[in-house]
Amino acid sequence: MVMVNATEMVNKAHEGHYAIGAFNINNMEWTKAILAGVQKANSPVMLQVSEGAAKYMGGYKTVVDMVRDLHDFMGITVPVALHLDHGTYEGAKACIEAGFTSVMFDGSHYGIEENIAKSKEIIELAHSKGVSVECEVGGIGGTEDGVTSNGELADPAECKSIADLGVDFLAAGIGNIHGVYPENWAGLNFERLGEIDEAIGHKPIVLHGGSGIPQDQVKKAITLGVSKINVNTDLQIVFAEATRAYIEAGKDRAGKGYDPRKLLKPGTDAITEKVIDMVTSFFGSADKA
Ligand code: 13P
Repeated sequence: MVMVNATEMVNKAHEGHYAIGAFNINNMEWTKAILAGVQKANSPVMLQVSEGAAKYMGGYKTVVDMVRDLHDFMGITVPVALHLDHGTYEGAKACIEAGFTSVMFDGSHYGIEENIAKSKEIIELAHSKGVSVECEVGGIGGTEDGVTSNGELADPAECKSIADLGVDFLAAGIGNIHGVYPENWAGLNFERLGEIDEAIGHKPIVLHGGSGIPQDQVKKAITLGVSKINVNTDLQIVFAEATRAYIEAGKDRAGKGYDPRKLLKPGTDAITEKVIDMVTSFFGSADKA
């Protein structure tokens, strides 16, 4: 099976009241680990990559070739989309050219008029090539230089302006943030999510910052139209913890425990387990492939 765009899988999730996990990849181990997890759970998936991670991995073409080849080599049969996460205008165009099957254009830092104009252009270009598109309204907070900003709340009228352009799924701030949630986090704002869902005519909504949100909040968000949930930090944490345990147990110093194939295995396995848990217990996409 070849890679697909994300339109059908996200629309099906929206109709079926579950969500597609969009997991960020950082290297080959991440990609293999996530693919192994979703194949085992029989779940559709979006593998997504930030522009920074793509640069780290050797550019968009390298990412496309790696994901496509691993997908074939592993005999993956569940639907897989390759998506650009938080793309710039230039990045989105480059990924459409390089063979990504889905892109996000994040124009949330522009004024709404410029965001609309640029989103419109990317949506038209992507759709002409069969590529699905996510756009963003309002910005999503996170931790930068050790300072955690509050999750922003997107304006429903602005969400409608972007949704009306024909975007496939829309990212909107509802108090969510990237990274680890602070102790005093107020939680997702369901009132605003409901208003956005109404304003955009019940189109699929994307929840960024999907790591560490309590299960009941994730499930409630799905009932209010969230159909794609982004996860990066949770997988980074389980990878780091499993790798730490291996080294702290001195296993890298026993026999050939320093071999990267051994050293990276606990972390890679931890990612697979976490993916299976999330698609099964949080997103409801297991057995929906
Ligand atoms: P987390 O790192 O908080 O899971 O957020 C990922 C994300 O939203 C990527 O766009």
